Parts: sequence; structure tokens; C-alpha cells
Amino acid sequence: MTSTISKESLPKHVAIIMDGNGRWAEKHAFPRVRGHRKGAESVRTIVTLSRKLGISWLTLYAFSEENWKRPTHEVSALMKLLGSFLKRELKEMKENGIRLNVIGRTEKLPTATREILLDTIRQTSHGRRMVLTLALSYSGRQEILDAASALARKVKNGDMDPADITEDLFSANLYTSGMPDPDLVIRTSGEYRISNFLLWQISYSEIYITPTLWPDFGEAEFLNALSEYRKRDRRFGAVATTQ
Ligand code: IPE
Ligand code: IPE
Ligand code: MG
Repeated sequence: MTSTISKESLPKHVAIIMDGNGRWAEKHAFPRVRGHRKGAESVRTIVTLSRKLGISWLTLYAFSEENWKRPTHEVSALMKLLGSFLKRELKEMKENGIRLNVIGRTEKLPTATREILLDTIRQTSHGRRMVLTLALSYSGRQEILDAASALARKVKNGDMDPADITEDLFSANLYTSGMPDPDLVIRTSGEYRISNFLLWQISYSEIYITPTLWPDFGEAEFLNALSEYRKRDRRFGAVATTQ
């Protein structure tokens, strides 16, 4: 089945809002953390399949700036889970040419998690087949503010004129500098919102929302999202190609 998808019809960049771990746990009468652990298995499945299919960029919303508001024990369990996940997957990432990248205010992460993260980024830096970006302590609005401040500073120092600020220059000052905008955004667990994810970058992304909770999101549903994407007519404000 996977081999039947031609590379041209694939989104180059898929971004996923992985939501519903807590509800999955609740549904099975488990503590929330068990939902996050099961969610990490879905991450593995989707990363592996994306790489196999030839998707070049995969971005996963793993922890938002707003998620710091959660109970301390949940936050610390998530951070530990992230560290152990990265350690466990390092070998496989290296073998498959997957380069790890991160966006967000990672200086806020606990030191131990941050060290594992930086080490994984370093050790996978030669990967050329797929870039796996984790959004951690990420806020789309904060990202835009950070870019605005950086540009304002350049103007203030006389290095640039306000008229030089184009869309491309602004994009180049975001955390996602050098990355293409997502073609497809997937959100699991049925919420019809963006939750502060990649606000600038998704201006023309196709959106796929499924009621499936993230821990239940597997290969079949991901392939379905890709097949839905192929049916979309991306007009970018122009008239349909068939008209
Ligand atoms: C997504 O699942 C994981 C994170 C936001 C870290 P949730 O933990 O938000 O699950 P629900 O939305 O409570 O079901
Ligand atoms: C979005 O999920 C953030 C991540 C998936 C990391 P949330 O569960 O935090 O979003 P809301 O609170 O439903 O908007
Ligand atoms: Mg949620």
C-alpha cells in the first residue's frame, strides 16, 4: 500500500498537533501519563512511516508554551518521557538519515532533558533523508514576537530599513528559518483549533482533523490523511486548475 504513493503527490512537510493522550487514558481508566506513554508509540509509528514514504519534513507539536500550566507531576513525566524516547530512538534515527530539529523556547526545559535533546540533535546532524522537528515549549505568537524583535533591533542598529521587511525576510527570522511551510496540518482528537501552532507558517496549509485520539492514530489513518490531501485543490487564492 505504502509503495503506491508517488513522491510528487506527497506533502513535502507534514505538521501534526498530537492531541488526546489524556482522553485516551481516561477512556481506559488509566492515569494521564500512561496516555502520554502510549502517545510516544504513535510518534514512533508515524516517524517511521513518514521516512519510509519519503516525506522530507515532519513537525510534531509535542509541548506548547501553554502546557507549562499543567500539574508539575504531568509536566515532569512528559519531560522524562521525552528524554527516554530520544535515547531509545537515537540509533534508528541515525540509521535512517533522520535529522532531529527543535523549535520553541527550549531554554525552559529541565537541564537533563535539554542535554539529551541537544546531544540527539548533534548526533543526527548528518541525516539527509528527513528532518524531524519537535515543537517544544513552543508558542506561535512568541515566535512571531521574537522575529519582530530581532528585525526591530536590526533597524535600530541601522543595519536594515523597515522597507526591507518582506515575507521571505520575516520567515527567515522565525524559528522555522530554512524550512518550507507545512503543506498538511493534522490535528487528532477532534478539536477544531490551532492552539498557537505555527501561526505564520500555516497560512495556506491544508488541514485534516480527525476524532481519533493521538494514541490510537496509526498507519492506516495517516495514509488516509495523505490520501485526503491528494484530493484537495490547492488554489492559493487563484482559480481552480481545472477551470
Ligand atoms: C496531547 O495530549 C499531549 C500534550 C499536549 C502534551 P493531551 O494531554 O492534551 O490530551 P487531552 O487533550 O487531555 O486528551
Ligand atoms: C496542543 O494540545 C498542544 C500539543 C499537542 C502539544 P493542547 O491539549 O495543549 O491544546 P488545547 O488546550 O486543547 O487547545
Ligand atoms: Mg489536549
